[in-house]
Amino acid sequence: MSGDPAIGEILVPADALTARVAELATEVSRDYAGRDLLLIGVLKGAMFFLSDLMRRLDVPAQVDFMAVASYGSATRSSGVVRILKDLDAPIEGRDVLIVEDIVDSGLTLQYLLRNLAGRNPASLEVCALLIKPERRKVDLRTRYVGFEIPDRFVIGYGLDHGERYRNLPYVAALRE
Ligand code: IMP
Ligand code: MG
Repeated sequence: MSGDPAIGEILVPADALTARVAELATEVSRDYAGRDLLLIGVLKGAMFFLSDLMRRLDVPAQVDFMAVASYGSATRSSGVVRILKDLDAPIEGRDVLIVEDIVDSGLTLQYLLRNLAGRNPASLEVCALLIKPERRKVDLRTRYVGFEIPDRFVIGYGLDHGERYRNLPYVAALRE
């Protein structure tokens, strides 16, 4: 796969991912001490981020998953979201932290936040590995952010293009 011409410039190298995830885990551990933390991983893109983050947490934490698909072209979401897999258990009264790979327009996350808020968690926050500030269409509070990146379509560390490239150990721009 290295040598694949679709893999462009490396925007976040593997060592920077490791270091930043450790910092985020420290922040989350501090903020959620003595609380009832439930991580909700958004499949599939957040899988590496979630597992790296969770294993570095220094507080008790549980995990559940949702899978969503946003309609739209391969590289642009429409904001119309379909739940492919819902949570296993209710979140009422829990301190919920949504763990997302990337917030682009924010439409997918806006949908998720509204949907989960309706289930009466004690608190609801977002931890996103990547955000693209230039492309944000809706105002959302992302409590924890790994990296701000420019308006490029990115692959690797869980992020895909047509289900490929998730297993790259770094985040790279897609060369189209
Ligand atoms: P949004 O609804 O525009 O914020 O897009 C959210 C979803 O689109 C993310 O959770 C990703 O699954 C996908 N996505 C957005 N930008 C990228 C990217 O640059 N690479 C890979 N997936 C992306
Ligand atoms: Mg996603």
